[in-house]
Amino acid sequence: MKRTKVGPFDYAIQVEKAIPKGVLLTTKADNKVNSMVIGWGMLGTIWSIPTFVTFVRTSRYTHELLAANPRFTINVPVDGPLPRDIFRVCGTQSGRDVDKVSAAALELVEGEKVDVPAIVQAPLTLECEVMYHTPLDESAIPEDLHDRYYVQDTDGLHDVYYGRIVSSYLLEA
Ligand SMILES: Cc1cc2nc3c(=O)[nH]c(=O)nc-3n(C[C@H](O)[C@H](O)[C@H](O)COP(=O)(O)O)c2cc1C
Repeated sequence: MKRTKVGPFDYAIQVEKAIPKGVLLTTKADNKVNSMVIGWGMLGTIWSIPTFVTFVRTSRYTHELLAANPRFTINVPVDGPLPRDIFRVCGTQSGRDVDKVSAAALELVEGEKVDVPAIVQAPLTLECEVMYHTPLDESAIPEDLHDRYYVQDTDGLHDVYYGRIVSSYLLEA
């Protein structure tokens, strides 16, 4: 598998358009790799550093893995949406209950600068190191959005992770 280097913003439009349809956030700790679908996130700049910002509910297994190893990869499909099986497994099942790498037949490629793999089926890769993370301020969330996303919700609020993009590339056969 060839790693073709690209700039962190070279595929910005494709990344931003793919996010609401679902891209993967991959983490690894204690030798366990786990991917979850995210539909919220953004590419941009803070402190003059190319950054990917992601929102992870405190109940996710991903949240636990990020606490153990604050590095992640963002894996974006380039020819259409994520394959259906990957979307279903990674978007509905928890890595606490299933090994999603085998359940979704994820093909892994070792990371370049982080100890978290890239995913062949979602080949545009942003390798990130968490610079800063913070919980949402529940009291500042507009009421209508709070009602929609957090009332009667046992999943917990989202924590916000600012990931410094340390490498970006396309996996190609
Ligand atoms: C389209 C879609 C978008 C999602 N976006 C997010 C998100 O941005 N943040 C989040 O915490 N969960 C999101 N989820 C839910 C997680 O993907 C799901 O709960 C997953 O099973 C968590 O896996 P984990 O427990 O292994 O971390 C989304 C699910 C789907 C289907």
